[in-house]
Amino acid sequence: MSVPKHIAIIMDGNGRWAKKRFLPRVSGHVKGVSRVKEIVEYCSVLGVRYLTLFAFGRDNWKRPQEEVSFLMNLLSEQISKEFYKLHDKNVKIRFIGDRARLSTLIQEQMDSIEQLTSNNTAINLNIAIDYSGTYDIVQAVNKVIATNPNAPITEDDFSKYLLLYPDPNPDLFIRTSGESRISNFLLWQISYSECYFTEKLWPDFNKKALDIAIQWFNSRERRFGMISEQIQGVL
Ligand code: FPP
Repeated sequence: MSVPKHIAIIMDGNGRWAKKRFLPRVSGHVKGVSRVKEIVEYCSVLGVRYLTLFAFGRDNWKRPQEEVSFLMNLLSEQISKEFYKLHDKNVKIRFIGDRARLSTLIQEQMDSIEQLTSNNTAINLNIAIDYSGTYDIVQAVNKVIATNPNAPITEDDFSKYLLLYPDPNPDLFIRTSGESRISNFLLWQISYSECYFTEKLWPDFNKKALDIAIQWFNSRERRFGMISEQIQGVL
């Protein structure tokens, strides 16, 4: 079985997981965090080279203030304590998104864990915070304008200004919780990703669920605009 080089995940369904158990929504996020750790470590063991997780979208600021504060505190706590354990497991951590609206404390925590883990080699973990795909494209356009406003640009060169660069595009895109939307996560970068949608809620997405997603990925024929015979080498 071949393992995708890059997996991107929308970790959805924390709130519904909690609601089903008559718990406050935030306890779904707490359970979600423990799945993050499990899936990061499992991906590393499997040999996945890049894992990109959508932790907080630009539209998530519109949630009730208490939930936003809880999520920010949870992130801060994870970055300052738990992510050091990922460093011990040789995980390289990077954040993508607009840092300007985050607290100075979180920005400093992000900088320091990125610096600390920058030479790690087990797996590249990207965490998207205050991220959206449209934001990513617009910030890239603005950088292009600032650098070289008059010259035409190629697709390859443009992609160098996107926040995920220099990582390759995701091979497998997963969304949990039964929704079949992209919800403004990576847009440019998933142009040829295989998209897997599962009913499982994120707090229930365990190693076995990831195995099933990877098996499904292996059943797909990726043609990148070509025809089957070309991919199979008979043409
Ligand atoms: C979506 O579920 C989940 C989020 C908006 C937050 C995801 C955050 C975590 C899993 C925890 C923090 C992550 C890291 C990397 C430390 P939802 O609340 O939209 O669920 P619902 O659709 O059922 O309401």
